Amino acid sequence: MASSDKESAVIGLLGLGTMGANLALNIAEKGFKIAVFNRTVETTRRFHAQSGGLAQQIVPCDVLEDLVSALKPPRSIILMLPAGEILDQQIAVLRELLDPDDLIIDAGNANFHDTNRRTAEAKATGVPYLGIGVSGGEEGARHGPSIMGGGPRPAWDRVSHILGAIAAKHDGQACAQWMGEGGAGHFVKSVHNGIEYADMQMIAEVYGILRDGFGMTAAAIGEVFARWNKGPLKSYLIEISAEVSSCRDAQSEKPMLDVILDRAGQKGTGRWTAIEALHLASPATVIEAAVAARNLSSRLGERKAGEAIFGAAPRALAPDALTIDALENALIAGKIVCYAQGFGLLASASDAYGWSLPLPEVARVWRAGCIIRSSMLNDMAEALTKNPTLNLMFSDFFAARLKGSELALREVVAASALAGLPAPALSSGLAYFDMMRTSRSTANMIQAQRDFFGAHSFERIGEEGAHHGPWHKG
Ligand code: 6PG
Repeated sequence: MASSDKESAVIGLLGLGTMGANLALNIAEKGFKIAVFNRTVETTRRFHAQSGGLAQQIVPCDVLEDLVSALKPPRSIILMLPAGEILDQQIAVLRELLDPDDLIIDAGNANFHDTNRRTAEAKATGVPYLGIGVSGGEEGARHGPSIMGGGPRPAWDRVSHILGAIAAKHDGQACAQWMGEGGAGHFVKSVHNGIEYADMQMIAEVYGILRDGFGMTAAAIGEVFARWNKGPLKSYLIEISAEVSSCRDAQSEKPMLDVILDRAGQKGTGRWTAIEALHLASPATVIEAAVAARNLSSRLGERKAGEAIFGAAPRALAPDALTIDALENALIAGKIVCYAQGFGLLASASDAYGWSLPLPEVARVWRAGCIIRSSMLNDMAEALTKNPTLNLMFSDFFAARLKGSELALREVVAASALAGLPAPALSSGLAYFDMMRTSRSTANMIQAQRDFFGAHSFERIGEEGAHHGPWHKG
């Protein structure tokens, strides 16, 4: 670092992996001078050397002390590091070098419980802490991600002009929003990722029905997705599903999809969401099914053993069993149910953790930049603005949509079940829908059983108080 670079940068960034490097370039491009540091000096130097016309806006730092002195006080430093222990170690080292009015911003995918803890530790030790969820992958980080902020509001206000400038824009509005104290931002990002898993799983289920049920080629499936992307399902994930389906492998000359092993990876963010949904007793069954499906996908050996014992399911559908339009409508219905659960989970967490999460704003921030961006989120933002506490399925707009697509979801789930085509996310969405439109459920049986074996008592219809049944009376 040259001496002229001292106190010249308005923001710092630590961790020049793919996301960090792209975010740093985005910040530099928006006119903010940025100081950068990576544990490996060569990475920092290479990054600077390859930053082209933006090099002037970037101060590469070989040691952490240089990063600190390159920043104008009060300093703000973004951390782009993997979640977990490394992050805690880095924060401890940084705190020693920073002043109490400086600011540490964790922009990685952290578990919100860790962010809550780190925010509390920051309060005790000084140096405020912001946990921000950044979505959009490599491309989003470089050209406009969706940003979900959490932590002390004054700290957010200090950097919101930079975050707003680098964020994606929807109708000119920046997709960057403070969600609440402590881990609120990382929680919203976690639910985003849970929904991302569910959206991807439902698309994969429909892909499976098209491939194995209809016997369609990857290219033909790509055309179906491309067509759907012009309708109500218009979204980034449908768009890329069309693209990956029509892509061919140069090596084998086969469709890319046909040479990719069916074992899905995961870093754990979807699982965090499912765990939290169970913890808060806020059903997110489509997300839970999607997480379970990823887990099952990784049990390839066991799946092969299962096929050897039971034989492969028939899978092929009779010519008149389903239409492609039914699949589109089933996906629409599944998506509505999934988002209703996701926003329900946000509302439950908001109550439990005292956040006042702005649900319409969450929908707005997800309209551009992030992985789950879609045209439907625009309608969700409108519905949630009218009534943020109503189950999204019950809003006028989505209730009408569900009435129009419910039968298709039912047909798809039924046809898949008969053909042995697994559709766990769509099926669990349908079961949730059916449970939520049933005023007389079967939990009376559960209550009778509980009372029978444990004298747990039950309520009688139309009567106050706790009651017991006449069990064990011979
Ligand atoms: C995003 C993504 C991003 C990342 C996921 C992948 O919003 O930009 O969600 O955070 O792609 O973490 O997660 P898995 O490896 O768990 O699929």
